[in-house]
Amino acid sequence: MCNTKNNILPAAEVEKQFEYIKRIKKDNDKYTELNGNRRRAFVMTFGCQQNEADSEKIAGMAEAMGYEIANLPEGASLIVVNTCAVREHAEQKALSIIGQYKHLKNKDPDMIIAVCGCMVTQEHRVNEIKFSYPYVDFVFGTSSIHRLPQLICQRRASGRRIYCPEEKEYLVAEGIPMKRAEGARAWVSVMYGCNNFCSYCIVPYVRGRERSRTREAIYDEVAELVKQGYRDITLLGQNVNSYGKDSGYDYDFADLLSMLDTIEGDYMIHFMTSHPKDATRKLIDVMANGRHIAKHFHLPLQAGSDDVLRRMNRRYTFESYMGILDYIREKMPDAVITSDIMVGFPGESEEDFEDTLRALRRARFDMIYSFIYSPRRGTPAYSMDCHIPDKIKSERFERLLQCQNAIALEKNKPLVGKTVRVLCDGRSKNNDKVFSGRNEGNKIVFFDAEDSDTGKFLDVLIERADTFALYGKIIRQK
Ligand code: 5AD
Ligand code: SF4
Repeated sequence: MCNTKNNILPAAEVEKQFEYIKRIKKDNDKYTELNGNRRRAFVMTFGCQQNEADSEKIAGMAEAMGYEIANLPEGASLIVVNTCAVREHAEQKALSIIGQYKHLKNKDPDMIIAVCGCMVTQEHRVNEIKFSYPYVDFVFGTSSIHRLPQLICQRRASGRRIYCPEEKEYLVAEGIPMKRAEGARAWVSVMYGCNNFCSYCIVPYVRGRERSRTREAIYDEVAELVKQGYRDITLLGQNVNSYGKDSGYDYDFADLLSMLDTIEGDYMIHFMTSHPKDATRKLIDVMANGRHIAKHFHLPLQAGSDDVLRRMNRRYTFESYMGILDYIREKMPDAVITSDIMVGFPGESEEDFEDTLRALRRARFDMIYSFIYSPRRGTPAYSMDCHIPDKIKSERFERLLQCQNAIALEKNKPLVGKTVRVLCDGRSKNNDKVFSGRNEGNKIVFFDAEDSDTGKFLDVLIERADTFALYGKIIRQK
């Protein structure tokens, strides 16, 4: 390794948290002895998979502190709200939920309510919590997640509310216990933060600069998960393609994937998200030749107009983006390609928007996540001229969906009559008579199965396809 920069939090800092964990556990165990039941903790999560992964750490620490993890806030002694700031709607939802917890605190004044995540890494939101939500005990930012045990102790000892939006330095905390969501899928963060500063996006301001975990730490975690029986592992980062650059590692994301692919076992690796400006041919070659790497690329385009892309500070053109898609399809003709598309960016003309529709027809994504631009205070786009009226944004959003839905259906139809490998997630949430799972490209598939099939890979013959899902029957090996 040359010119490496150490982005890892000193182990002593993490060990310190374990001291606090022990202290709280002792107290919680005493409570259990006296009352016959355990204190409960409830974690409410908003936003992206990165937040889900952070919440698994919060729940893991809470469990280590002796709390039982609850599914509901009622009766919990500790509530942590992990917030998102990417769109205004997510912030409003979080504030409304925090508002609803006031009556719980009234019933149980000893309860601790903490708010963390991207929303409270912004000063104006910290002030809002400080003045308008006086029953919130403490707030902590995205880089302080590991400090939860310490903050609980401090709050109890001092009796004072605590505002800890950010650390001086954003560092990777290794060794924090995690309580993973049930099932055969697991998230593994490979890096944190973002250096891209897309002009609409709050993430670089609330998650700090890029910092990568070492490949050894990631390898050990993935190998352990495979050993424990996890079948689908998604590597997470805001821009996984720049993995390693921040720390000066002499290996990149493609090298990391190659290394993980050597782990023996029956599993798939997905990853998200990639920035098109950094998607290399080397990475695509590694995917094409991989044994365990899903042939699924999530590559956010955002807009089809070069002028909009330039003002978004995306640093690619639509043609250069298409060059990457062409190479992916040349190497992996059946690859599933998904994208993020935004409508209503400031100054987006009708012609710009039609460029996006044309781009969809050319790129032919299997699926898109579509977004209406939401102004974020502190970002360059916030102070740009010509914000688009809500009515026009909504109309464009509808047209975007219509255009993409037709493409998604066209992409799904040819799968009828084919047998696809599906990881079974168990009974469907909406109808427990059928089972659901996802194929290599993360497409949702419904089929009849038995409970013992949950968590296994199954061969499913596709009999019907619609815009959002595939339907089929299991082909059992004789
Ligand atoms: N408004 C709307 N969508 C946004 N995204 C990021 N910031 C905003 C915003 N201010 C979308 C982008 C990104 C996805 C995760 O969220 O499309 O790729
Ligand atoms: Fe936001 Fe752009 Fe970074 Fe993605 S790459 S998190 S859109 S700034």
